[in-house]
Amino acid sequence: MKLLQEIREKAKKHLTRIVLPESADPRVREAAQVIADSGIAEAILLKGNRHNLHWPVKPGIRYVDFPHDRKEELSEFLYELRKGKGMTLQEANRLLENPLYYGTMMVKAGYADGLVAGSLSPTADVLRPALQIIKTAPGISVVSGAFIMITGNRSFGQHGVMVFADCAVNPEPTAEQLAEIAYSSAVTAKSLAGIEEPRVGMLSFSTKGSAEHRMVAKVRQATAIARERYPFLSVDGELQADAALIPDVGASKAPESTVAGRVNVLIFPDLQSGNIGYKLGQRLAGAEAIGPILQGMAQPVNDLSRGCSVADIVNVTAITAVQVHNMEIKAGEVTFSLTK
Ligand code: ACO
Repeated sequence: MKLLQEIREKAKKHLTRIVLPESADPRVREAAQVIADSGIAEAILLKGNRHNLHWPVKPGIRYVDFPHDRKEELSEFLYELRKGKGMTLQEANRLLENPLYYGTMMVKAGYADGLVAGSLSPTADVLRPALQIIKTAPGISVVSGAFIMITGNRSFGQHGVMVFADCAVNPEPTAEQLAEIAYSSAVTAKSLAGIEEPRVGMLSFSTKGSAEHRMVAKVRQATAIARERYPFLSVDGELQADAALIPDVGASKAPESTVAGRVNVLIFPDLQSGNIGYKLGQRLAGAEAIGPILQGMAQPVNDLSRGCSVADIVNVTAITAVQVHNMEIKAGEVTFSLTK
């Protein structure tokens, strides 16, 4: 809870414009009021022709006449971006009637800094326009989804705070993609979760050759790629979860490792293990799970669960605003460093 409060405070320092395309959802409109009242961001709502909806009128909330405002401009832009993939102008026009595509195009065209959606749509529907239109950040080829996990047991991670990934996007990442996910997750750990020294564990059902299988070999290869590509990153693998987290087990199973027993960024080998892993931590261990936080996107987009509360929407908006700010820092050449 303290971490979320800190993220909200960070968000308030620099006013960003976050579009909430699922504005037909009353929870989204209520969240927009909280976001505006607390100064977390300027909330952009898409106001269509629906009747009987309560639209709060207050400073800090901007309304866009959806889908009419700038429709021609945004359709043409979308067509230009996707014509190489076979999109027609007519199709671009039709897609712009979908609030998720419209909101994503607002971000791409610079009319908003980030997007938060998913209270009415499945993850894949939020991700697809973002992946097709916004694309990945420079030097990154894969978008992934991390959770900040906060456990009551302060002996794990940094005072109980850890990062788990990928728990939301890539069903079967390659070794190269796993290496990149390790890097992106360490950046999320440092820049959002407040983990000062990210220590990354590449998880498997084997520790340092205790088992041989093609799945284990992939994790070992991913570790080697991560070490080569990101020499400043503190990373080791392949590690079983106990060897990664428990100092005694780490010392006996991986005595040479500099991170075993002290891992605070857990990289799962595929989406099944990652998604199951974070849910087990949340449900069995009572850990608070914040996310999924989408990492590696050129401009921030984040997904909500359909069961989300108003507070969840406010928190994810604050996270998105802080991601915008972190990207601005990078763009200003004060490059974010993992070493210090
Ligand atoms: N990173 C970057 N780009 C990507 C990624 C990625 N991880 N995945 C797809 N893309 C790009 C593709 O390159 C492609 O670009 P292009 O059209 O310009 O060539 C575009 O996105 C579309 O790719 P497809 O593979 O056609 O997209 P598809 O819609 O089939 O799948 C998706 C992408 C939606 C992310 C899919 O992988 C998916 O459904 N993942 C699982 C999501 C999910 O259900 N998660 C679990 C629930 S979340 C939770 O419980 C927390």
